[in-house]
Amino acid sequence: MSQTQTIAIVLAAGMGTRMKSDTPKVMHRLAGLPLVDHALAGLKVAGVDQAIVVMGPEMADQADRFAPHKTVVQTDRLGTGHAVRVALEASETGEADLLVVFGDTPLLTPDTIKALLACRQEGAAAAVLGFRPSEPGVYGRLITEGEQVCRIVEAADASPDELAVGLCNSGVLVADGKKLKTWVQALKNDNAKGEYYLTDVIALAQADDGACVFAEGDVDELIGINTRADLAMAEGILQNRYRAAAMAGGVTLIDPASTFLSHDTTFGTDIEIGPFTVFGPGVTVGNHVTIKGFCHFENATIGERATVGPYARLRVGAALETDAHVGNFVEIKNARIEEGAKVNHLTYIGDARVGKAANVGAGTITANYDGFNKSHTDIGAGASIGSNTVLVAPVAVGDGAITGAGSVVRKDVPDNAIAVTDAAQKNREGTADAYRAQRKAVKESKSKDS
Ligand code: UD1
Ligand code: CA
Repeated sequence: MSQTQTIAIVLAAGMGTRMKSDTPKVMHRLAGLPLVDHALAGLKVAGVDQAIVVMGPEMADQADRFAPHKTVVQTDRLGTGHAVRVALEASETGEADLLVVFGDTPLLTPDTIKALLACRQEGAAAAVLGFRPSEPGVYGRLITEGEQVCRIVEAADASPDELAVGLCNSGVLVADGKKLKTWVQALKNDNAKGEYYLTDVIALAQADDGACVFAEGDVDELIGINTRADLAMAEGILQNRYRAAAMAGGVTLIDPASTFLSHDTTFGTDIEIGPFTVFGPGVTVGNHVTIKGFCHFENATIGERATVGPYARLRVGAALETDAHVGNFVEIKNARIEEGAKVNHLTYIGDARVGKAANVGAGTITANYDGFNKSHTDIGAGASIGSNTVLVAPVAVGDGAITGAGSVVRKDVPDNAIAVTDAAQKNREGTADAYRAQRKAVKESKSKDS
């Protein structure tokens, strides 16, 4: 039998009132990525690359972000069954099977999606994904008989006996597309919430066809996010997944629990990461890198064998080449630190290049912003920037050049030159004792007065 095509319907229109937020629920983020994008990414890996996303009216102008997927706006939010109906009325899905997933259930893995699709391929008209949370609470309950699901009852409509059932509805289901269309048309809203529940299609499927089965999934994949507390719980689960994958790939995490990764963090192998490090989006780390603790990175690249931190911040466009060293209390933005260059202490490097094997002394600042424009600083290969140098951009320091400690460099420094700008030092011999005596007298007279 040739495999039927599957089209996903992603329900993402709910108000998310329990989040108490101006942001639509499905746009809240886990590991830097909106919930709905996690759901779509899982579908893609499972081989379901066509989806219809049902959005709320407040997202109507965001259809482009879902391209190439089709989007449909559900103006009146009359429930999950209504959302599927709106999607199907606006789309031609032909003979395809329909897989419904929720935008607020982002931890679902591709393997579990595939396991559910297999139930459908084995001939059931519909298959539902169930799970057993430790606290079934507000989840719908699957009322089963053997391998069959007879119906799903929402917690708000359930009897005490039904509430005692531990097997819950994850919301994910797959069905014969043509049949699902007729079932959603037949839904009624005579229930506790006055909504068209998608869950009621199961009883309709049983009446119609008598073949509706269920698969069971892991609770860590199927929690639905309704509140900020759910969001935090899901973040924890996802972080543990990412940490385990990083370690399996050859990354030592000295304290996994305090290492926070993004959905797109990319690691080489033989990397060591100290405690309390946050990877924001867009970070790539090469082989044999050492990251000491307490660092914060986003949109940055760390090349092979580089060492970073502790207490370093790499911002957008920071690119460390092989063997670069970036030390404590250093911030780098939009700057390339070339091979073997060192920026080790208390420094800001923004909009700059630090040439190969150059050394940037403690307290160096690139003054890159004059209140109107951002300007570039270029530091040549092998240059040595003295401590507390201010490089007033745009400015270039040549290859092998040196700047004296405390210099304010406003003009380009040629290759191999030494630039010194500090005022000449005067030593007033033998005056320190007299100075101290005078300060002490002033202090004593003040304390008498008070
Ligand atoms: C739903 C299920 C429940 C299940 C739980 C799993 C129904 C009636 N109930 O309950 O059985 O245990 O999920 O997490 O299906 N949405 C729309 N349009 C609407 C209403 C909802 O697009 O009119 C979307 C929401 O954005 C969300 C998803 O559908 O992504 C689920 O809606 P939600 O209101 O969170 O349903 P639950 O009460 O959690
Ligand atoms: Ca929900």
